[in-house]
Amino acid sequence: MSDTDTDAKVAAYFERPGHRHAVEQGIVDGKLPLKFAYAGSAAHTHDRLARHEGYQAVTGAAANVRETFRSAGLDEVPAIVEIGPGNGLNSMTILRRLGDAKRPPRMLLGLDFSETLLGMAEANFRRELGEVSFTGHVWDVEAEPTAAVDSWRPPETPVPVLLLGNTIGNFEQPSAALGHVRRSMRMGDTLVIGATLRRDGINARSMTEPYRNATFTEAALEPLHACGVSPADVCFTVDYIDDEVVGFAVLRRGLNILGHELPPGHRVRCFVSHRFTPDHIHSIVRAAGLVVGVSRIDEAANHIVVTAAKENSAEGCTS
Ligand SMILES: C[S@@+](CC[C@H](N)C(=O)[O-])C[C@H]1O[C@@H](n2cnc3c(N)ncnc32)[C@H](O)[C@@H]1O
Repeated sequence: MSDTDTDAKVAAYFERPGHRHAVEQGIVDGKLPLKFAYAGSAAHTHDRLARHEGYQAVTGAAANVRETFRSAGLDEVPAIVEIGPGNGLNSMTILRRLGDAKRPPRMLLGLDFSETLLGMAEANFRRELGEVSFTGHVWDVEAEPTAAVDSWRPPETPVPVLLLGNTIGNFEQPSAALGHVRRSMRMGDTLVIGATLRRDGINARSMTEPYRNATFTEAALEPLHACGVSPADVCFTVDYIDDEVVGFAVLRRGLNILGHELPPGHRVRCFVSHRFTPDHIHSIVRAAGLVVGVSRIDEAANHIVVTAAKENSAEGCTS
């Protein structure tokens, strides 16, 4: 894809039946599940955002992931699963870093809510990292477990399951989502979570700085635009409240959606990214029935990687 293609504005669209209604209901309720900021035409705005320098400052830290693979004894894994690979660019960075592993991975299963992002990731892999075979599968990790990991994995092969880029900070109920991940894993598989750490003593302004640009605003508002809400009819604010970067769309004029008259000033939370302490991540992992393994903090990047495994219980043997 050329830069010109990347920058081109794609006409607004939803990916699947039901998405438009779910987004409209979210606008009425004042809370839009963040997964819709990655699907349909929003995937193209996310793709632009993911190429933005500020985005890397928040989600990067491939070196920390690589080192965690070493510490956790994951240096001979032929196949990797990634939940939320986005456009695949960060996945490729990590796979390149794993090129010095005893056995570099040659297969990647990308599981994502966004079929459009999976298509982009597949094309990016084919063009830029042809030696790794990329398979995409649509899955909403917040909704239910998936059988896709088991049907894809090479026979008798434990796999690392990556959840990187602070995607865990986007979930409404992180422990419930990790519970679905646990039920999609087998004994011997390792969940690898990459998250952004809370910074004490930092002011809201500098915390939200990476999000104060036109590319991010466009990405956050795209689901509303796909519902026909004109950019001129909303303004966007971003703030740091209770360890969360939160973005709100505020209606400039009244709007009728699903039979509801929404007044000017109606606020819709359309972005959320939680910041964690190490203890918080560990407690989420444990609440999901997983056992914490390696924990690796990169102070400079403000980033933590935590590995987790299934407990040795009857439920863990087959499901
Ligand atoms: C913050 S981006 C991270 C992308 C990539 N890992 C990176 O570091 O650039 C979040 C990714 O998770 C996906 N995602 C968000 N909510 C999801 C859900 N409920 N189920 C599955 N994927 C989801 C998004 O589509 C997107 O690809």
